[in-house]
Amino acid sequence: MTALSFTHTPNANPASDADRAAILADPGFGKHFTDHMVTATWTTDAGWHDGAVTAYGPISLMPSAAVLHYAQEIFEGLKAYRHEDGSVWGFRPYANAQRMARSATRLALPPLPEEDFLASLRAIVEADKAWVPGPGESGEKSLYLRPFMFASEAFLGVRPAAEVTYSVIASPAGAYFAGGLKPVTLWISEHYARAGAGGTGAAKCGGNYASSLAGQLEGAEHGCDQAVFLDSSTHTYIEELGGMNLFFVTKDNRLVTPELTGTILEGVTRSSILGLSKELGLDPEERRIEIEEWKDGVRSGDIVEIFACGTAAVVTPVGELRWEGGQAPSTAGEAGGEVTNAIRSRLLDVQYGRVEDTHGWLTQL
Ligand code: COI
Repeated sequence: MTALSFTHTPNANPASDADRAAILADPGFGKHFTDHMVTATWTTDAGWHDGAVTAYGPISLMPSAAVLHYAQEIFEGLKAYRHEDGSVWGFRPYANAQRMARSATRLALPPLPEEDFLASLRAIVEADKAWVPGPGESGEKSLYLRPFMFASEAFLGVRPAAEVTYSVIASPAGAYFAGGLKPVTLWISEHYARAGAGGTGAAKCGGNYASSLAGQLEGAEHGCDQAVFLDSSTHTYIEELGGMNLFFVTKDNRLVTPELTGTILEGVTRSSILGLSKELGLDPEERRIEIEEWKDGVRSGDIVEIFACGTAAVVTPVGELRWEGGQAPSTAGEAGGEVTNAIRSRLLDVQYGRVEDTHGWLTQL
């Protein structure tokens, strides 16, 4: 049942066709935004209401809004893909709806019903259809959709907010990393953990990303692109990159990824890759992986490829691993290994409707 409907007030000053075309030719990631945004409000008394599509622009908030003080906030990330016949599709949007509801529960925010989440995506895609690019030369252009929800109540007491704002913005996207498919170099974050047991690590909340930044900065100071986080209690097991999950390909065709312990984000791309593994001749394995296994495995040849994945980054080859006083070599070559690229291609083929959607992952928006 869809409880929310969205009134539509068109942007009186949309981007010109020429400006939009220039952006779509080279969108980068997260730099440009479409003409419209979705908003809706939740209050303890009235539930979800006031769904609207309006011109993209500033949100007015009181300085006392709870989100600015206590970080009661969650978000999602998914993409709209233009197929060859012009139709626009979402990839597993119900999985994002369900994860957002789980994140909401963890952050004491009001879960948005799945059908309302879907209706909000359809509302922005309908308003900004012209902003959905085809795959383009890079083969991975799309319209990135960013639903988010935050405590907008102006109140400084520490309790779940009685007024919450939901919004969706949209941003044309190309490759997440400026280097395209160039393998990313990773830094082991030994001083900073991203999440702890019983915390919010499995929720998609801004706080997790904020807590990953110091580790990422430390990595950048050592010439690395991203940081890899370990479990916070033993500093032994590999968790994730902060914005991406990790996979290891072994010489005997196992596809190994850290198991979900409650401190790792349940990536939709992660779960889709596990779902595709068998048809690509790989045995999926979810288990705890020690950081030492990575160091030893790339040296012994047991690990033949490593890649990171996420909605934004799709599938990105991982190169060298560095830490204070040491490094382990890359297995990735110039642009990733054979298995990494096969997985990436299969995923993109499904997303752009070039192969049959045998898993039922696509939903027309
Ligand atoms: C995504 O992949 O959609 C994320 O939310 C991660 C972020 C690094 C962009």
